[in-house]
Amino acid sequence: MKRWYIAVRLCLASLIVLGFAGALWFARSVAAAEPPDAPKVAAPAASDDGALFTALVPVLRHPRCMNCHSQGDYPRQGDDGHPHTMNVRRGPVGFGVTSEKCNTCHQDHNLAGSHLPPGAPGWRLPPPSMPMIWQGLTDAQLCESIKDPKQNRNRNLDQLVEHLTEDKLVMWGWNPGEGRTPVPILHDEFTAKVKQWQAAGAPCPAK
Ligand code: HEC
Ligand code: HEC
Repeated sequence: MKRWYIAVRLCLASLIVLGFAGALWFARSVAAAEPPDAPKVAAPAASDDGALFTALVPVLRHPRCMNCHSQGDYPRQGDDGHPHTMNVRRGPVGFGVTSEKCNTCHQDHNLAGSHLPPGAPGWRLPPPSMPMIWQGLTDAQLCESIKDPKQNRNRNLDQLVEHLTEDKLVMWGWNPGEGRTPVPILHDEFTAKVKQWQAAGAPCPAK
């Protein structure tokens, strides 16, 4: 009687162990079947859509970007965004006025040493005909403005995303030269966030 009982217990126990191993194997093969680089981040609910854009704002509103995207017909300098010294102006196309062209001082790379001109290819302000001024806009307005072909020089969404993630003047914000604070989100991370926003259809905050 007792041996029979033990035999049944053993049998049951091994069935349980087998079943457990089987379940494990099944779970692992299901996990393996998922593409490894499937996006891990679940799409946010529609009501959270604006958050996909506001996640980009700490970069967009950083002085490294705002010093060229602020009100006035002049660039700005420093973390306090003071008007550019030496009365530098935007000029007729954004490259400065005749006597003080940006590229008289700014090269296509940063000059080493503090307070020497930073640089990147095509260093200039947007032209007065399309000044791309973000200062004074709400997040919602900023979002609409950079997407608007009439304000962004006819860029479609793909081109806007490319500009935001690859343009030389934008990239400079991650490597702004001695004594200047770079923008606050790592470039890879920022690119991922921009692409997430794009994938959701580039939604803007409601207000
Ligand atoms: C030295 C000046 C300068 C700096 C610094 C700069 N930009 Fe710009 N930005 C420009 C100019 C000039 C254009 C217009 C270029 C064009 O139309 O091809 C522009 C255009 C843009 C646009 C196009 C759409 C629009 O409506 O404004 C975006 C987006 C943009 N910049 C983002 C940034 C970001 C983000 C940073 C900081 C990481 C930055 N910029 C830093 C000069 C600058
Ligand atoms: C006479 C030389 C000169 C000219 C011309 C000039 N700059 Fe500058 N610029 C400088 C110097 C020097 C600095 C660095 C100042 C510092 O770090 O204290 C600077 C800094 C800047 C910065 C600040 C970067 C930051 O985020 O702090 C921007 C933006 C800028 N210049 C844009 C321009 C644009 C656009 C033009 C043309 C419209 C221009 N500059 C023309 C010399 C010049």
